[in-house]
Amino acid sequence: MNQELFESVDKYISDLFGYEDDVLKGAIKSMEEANIPAISVSANQGKFLQLIARMNGAKRILELGTLGGYSTIWLGRALPYDGYLLTLELEQAHADVALQNIIKAGLDEIVEIKVGPALELLPQLVAGGEEPFDMIFIDADKQPYAEYFEWALKLSKPGTVIIADNVIREGLVLDDNCTDERVIGVKRFNKALAENKRVSATIFQTIGTKEHDGMAIAVVNS
Ligand SMILES: C[S@@+](CC[C@H](N)C(=O)[O-])C[C@H]1O[C@@H](n2cnc3c(N)ncnc32)[C@H](O)[C@@H]1O
Repeated sequence: MNQELFESVDKYISDLFGYEDDVLKGAIKSMEEANIPAISVSANQGKFLQLIARMNGAKRILELGTLGGYSTIWLGRALPYDGYLLTLELEQAHADVALQNIIKAGLDEIVEIKVGPALELLPQLVAGGEEPFDMIFIDADKQPYAEYFEWALKLSKPGTVIIADNVIREGLVLDDNCTDERVIGVKRFNKALAENKRVSATIFQTIGTKEHDGMAIAVVNS
């Protein structure tokens, strides 16, 4: 694959459409300074998520995997003043950095971070009678993606958009002998997504500044 070309075209697109202001640039810098891995979505992917949230008129967004809050800011900026974005993060150190970035973005009134393993927090949300979300972005650890999808459905209603990142993993999903648990996890998720009658879904490949991968996108049927 021509990675250099993909990166140049990604830059071309983000120069046109994926403008990162000082807050977004600062979020990336804050992660570098805190030695947090550079695994946020790209600027173009952030803009894509923001557009989907706006097209869906999302007022309530759930995110799994906050990291330093980069995608949270893109998504939070799609919300109206009375919107709500809940983001779940395992690592307190990531959540601390994310909170500072969310405050700098002026989104702390509408964004809440809950810290803990998503597979513990999600059942608590359901048990607590959480209202359904309009959009759910799955971007935490890859092994339990199929379980995250099941919980996402419990927190959905007809029209909810569910997006899951990193579901192609440089094409390793094609390798039946791959023993990487992340690959096995996303393959299980992709199959469950394809077979579930409650959603209509597809996956598109992502190339650019990040490695070759894919995002799954689904809408909950009425
Ligand atoms: C790919 S990063 C998220 C990137 C972020 N969405 C962005 O684009 O800016 C994945 C995050 O999920 C978190 N994570 C890993 N396992 C988790 C779990 N079991 N529950 C919740 N979060 C988890 C990691 O600590 C990491 O911060």
